[in-house]
Amino acid sequence: MNNFLSLRDLDREQVVELVRFARELKANPIGDRLAKKVIGLLFMNPSLRTLASFQSAIGQQGGTSVVIQPGAGSWSLEFSDGAVMDGEAVEHVREAIPVLASYCDALGIRSFADQKNLDVDLADERMKKLAGLTEKPVINMESASDHPCQALADWMTLDELGIPKDGKFVLSWAWHPKPLPYAVPRAALTMAAQRGMDITILCPKNYNLPDKMITEAKQLGAASIEHQHNQVTGLADAHILYCKSWCALQHYGKPIEEMENRAHLRDWCVQESWFKNAKKDAKFMHCLPVRRNVKVADEILDGPRSVVIQQAENRLHVQKSVLISLLGGGN
Ligand code: CP
Repeated sequence: MNNFLSLRDLDREQVVELVRFARELKANPIGDRLAKKVIGLLFMNPSLRTLASFQSAIGQQGGTSVVIQPGAGSWSLEFSDGAVMDGEAVEHVREAIPVLASYCDALGIRSFADQKNLDVDLADERMKKLAGLTEKPVINMESASDHPCQALADWMTLDELGIPKDGKFVLSWAWHPKPLPYAVPRAALTMAAQRGMDITILCPKNYNLPDKMITEAKQLGAASIEHQHNQVTGLADAHILYCKSWCALQHYGKPIEEMENRAHLRDWCVQESWFKNAKKDAKFMHCLPVRRNVKVADEILDGPRSVVIQQAENRLHVQKSVLISLLGGGN
């Protein structure tokens, strides 16, 4: 493993091994497997969990991190080749990435979708291009259409919950005041498919996921995959409801149209009544941050179904596993 950009770059056995090692590190969190290593963390977008869990993971294993937040204490960056840089951006990524890499042993990069062109975002071209600017290992800390660190933590959480490998995984849309990209839905779908789960996409009628993502999930090994549009029917016999919001395909890159399109969908806020026919102890998952009583009701987040804190904690352990595996710290 040279980079960690997507679970789709790994086979199932490699993912299982990363999670196994994360479990070992969860039991024995402190060590020196990253001693004298410096990890650069480049955040083009805000974060709570990713920033804090990476810094903690590195520190607990004897390493150091350098955090760069362009436009918030460091220079604003330009991405486009051939740009005439007479605007806000002071430095091009073609210099910034190799310079930062020269100080570090590995880089984590967060760069969200532009949400202008669906094909470009689904191809995750920017993350691949940024990773190509250095020979050092690069970790995707959330890109235009992936979030593999979250997916790995979610895999570990499903294992801890004892969810059967072919259990029913429902990826549910929820209303949100902004159109969001496909990064987390795609990462969650990849993870559930690689596990071989029975997948349902639960969403309003015009929020079906792109065909590319459905085809990909089938190829990755999903036991089955279908769209459902009724919450109670869609959640029948479900083990997991994984909540996220995303943009309707026909309005991708058109935020005003998208918000008009979803104006009547505010009742897509996860609540207990949705679980009427789900497994009795079905769980609620979300990557966080989450808007309470907009995407999910307090009764769910504060009740026994929610495993969101466990998911977030597992980010620490899986990222440690990824860093040590990339940097040869041994296991
Ligand atoms: N889930 C997640 O990546 O959280 P942050 O955006 O706070 O890092």
